[in-house]
Amino acid sequence: MRIGVIGAGQMATALGSGWVKAGHEVLIGGRSTRRAADAAERIGPGTRHGDLRQAAQFGEVTLVAVSGTAVVDAVRQAGGEDGALAGRPLIDCSNAVAPTAFTGPAPGAFVLAEDAVAERIAGVAAGAHVVKAFNVCAAEVWAGADRRYEGRPLGVPLCGDDPDALRTVATLVADLGGEPVLAGGLDRARYLEGLAVFAMGLWFAGYDARAVLPSTVSGSSAG
Ligand SMILES: NC(=O)c1ccc[n+]([C@@H]2O[C@H](COP(=O)([O-])OP(=O)(O)OC[C@H]3O[C@@H](n4cnc5c(N)ncnc54)[C@H](OP(=O)(O)O)[C@@H]3O)[C@@H](O)[C@H]2O)c1
Repeated sequence: MRIGVIGAGQMATALGSGWVKAGHEVLIGGRSTRRAADAAERIGPGTRHGDLRQAAQFGEVTLVAVSGTAVVDAVRQAGGEDGALAGRPLIDCSNAVAPTAFTGPAPGAFVLAEDAVAERIAGVAAGAHVVKAFNVCAAEVWAGADRRYEGRPLGVPLCGDDPDALRTVATLVADLGGEPVLAGGLDRARYLEGLAVFAMGLWFAGYDARAVLPSTVSGSSAG
């Protein structure tokens, strides 16, 4: 599959690397083509690079991996309002955090910049099938060698309205060794965004966010 990536940072590199290893063609599109070229080089031979519009045009699927506060603007710059992303899945992995979210005394310091970034993206990406995905785990999880934790595959929640787009994104999750978790329509993306920001606040405050949501079957009282 051809995958265009809007953004040239950590998530673009981590997810792009996994998809190239799985046999997909990736084009990294950045507002700086030099940084896009650097990211493409980090991913490896055969990875293309270009600007934001080229990323939108290249993909059968597009990933937008840009800072949460800039993502709507980046989709606009990529030609979203002109239909450059129409009729195809647009994966949104962004987190709705303000740049200063974690500089204060966490976890109280994090904020949702605005709710439902995914829905706001859909508002400027005419005809695109937006799927919220990959926003919960750190880029290091995707850059690592394995996606099994405590004997189970990593679950990746997906929120979106188009069944074909959800199927395509589920395939891309499986290609990275994750297990797709169909978590409802795009109207539920705001909960996924809130969950991720809340968990990040806990991590930054020094807590283990996994301890907040333990499995009911693996607790010491089970059995
Ligand atoms: N890192 C993680 O562990 C992680 C995990 C899950 C989700 N996420 C989310 O994924 C998204 C990307 O994160 P990241 O870690 O890859 O960030 P990053 O490494 O800081 O990269 C951010 C990218 O956004 C671009 N950008 C910023 N403002 C822009 C604008 N106005 N127009 C166009 N491009 C712009 C940057 O371009 P320049 O290089 O030109 O500055 C850069 O390519 C964020 O929303 C983040 O919350 C991150």
